[in-house]
Amino acid sequence: MESLLKDALGHDASQLAAAERQRLLSRLLSRLAHEIRNPLGSLDVHVQLLEEDLVRASPPVSPAITSRLGIIRAELHRLDNIVRQFLTLAGPSSVSVQPVAIADTLEYVQRLLSADATAREITLTTTIAPDVPELSADPGQLAQALVNLVINAIQAIEHGGRITLSARVDAGGVACIEVQDTGPGVEPERRHAIFEPFFTTKPDGNGLGLWIVQQIATAHGGTISVLNAAGGGAVFSLRLPIARGGKIS
Ligand SMILES: Nc1ncnc2c1ncn2[C@@H]1O[C@H](COP(=O)(O)OP(=O)(O)OP(=O)(O)O)[C@@H](O)[C@H]1O
Ligand SMILES: [Mg+2]
Repeated sequence: MESLLKDALGHDASQLAAAERQRLLSRLLSRLAHEIRNPLGSLDVHVQLLEEDLVRASPPVSPAITSRLGIIRAELHRLDNIVRQFLTLAGPSSVSVQPVAIADTLEYVQRLLSADATAREITLTTTIAPDVPELSADPGQLAQALVNLVINAIQAIEHGGRITLSARVDAGGVACIEVQDTGPGVEPERRHAIFEPFFTTKPDGNGLGLWIVQQIATAHGGTISVLNAAGGGAVFSLRLPIARGGKIS
C-alpha cells in the first residue's frame, strides 16, 4: 500500500506518464476503499447490536442516547456510500452500460440540484437538440459526471447567474453534453491542471470532482474538455460516442 501511495502521489510520480499515474491512483483508491469498508461494516454491526442491547436495557435509556446512535449509524452509511462510489469509479471494468435517454439524465440532474441553484439565485436550464439518440452508457456514472460539473458551475458563479445544460450530436457520431456557466471561467493555463487529481482552488475542495468526470468519460470511450464562452464563463464539454443502432429518443 505504501509503495503504491508513493508511486501514485510521491515525487517519483513526476517521472511517471500521466496515464500510468492515473492507473496507479485508481488502484490506490480501490485498495483504500476496500480496506475502509471492512471496519465500517464491523462498526455498523456493533452499533446495531448496541441499539438492540439498549432497547432491552433496564432502566430504559434516554431517547437522546438512542437518537445519537441513529446519527452514528446514518453517518456510517454515508461513509460507506462514499467509499462504494470510489470503488465503482476505480475501474473501467465496473461500468455497467445500458441505453440511456440523455433527456432523462439531464432532467434528473436538474431536479437534484435546482434547490441549491435557486438558493443562490442561479437559473438552471436544459436544452436538448431534437436529433439526440439514446447513449450506450452507465446511467449512474453519467449522472455523477454531470452532477460534479453542475456543482462546480454553481460554486464558480457563487451568486446570481445562469447554468445551461445542453446536448447535441457532433460530427462523427459523437454526443456532446455541455455545462455552461456565467462564472469567471477557467484561465487558459489551468485548462489541463484542473483535471489532475487533487488540484483545487477552493479552501474546502478535494480536487477530485473533475478527475472523476475524466475517469467516467474515459471509461465510456469519451473525453472531457473546457473552454471559455465568448461572454466569459466556463463551458465543459463531455463527448461520448453514440453506440451503433442507438435510436432517436
Ligand atoms: N465551472 C468552473 N469555473 C471555473 N473554474 C472551475 C470550474 N469547475 C472547476 N473549476 C476549477 O477547477 C478546480 C478543480 O475542480 P474539481 O471539481 O476537480 O475540484 P473542486 O471542485 O475544487 O473540489 P471537489 O473535489 O469538491 O470537486 C476547481 O477548484 C476550480 O478552480
Ligand atoms: Mg468540484
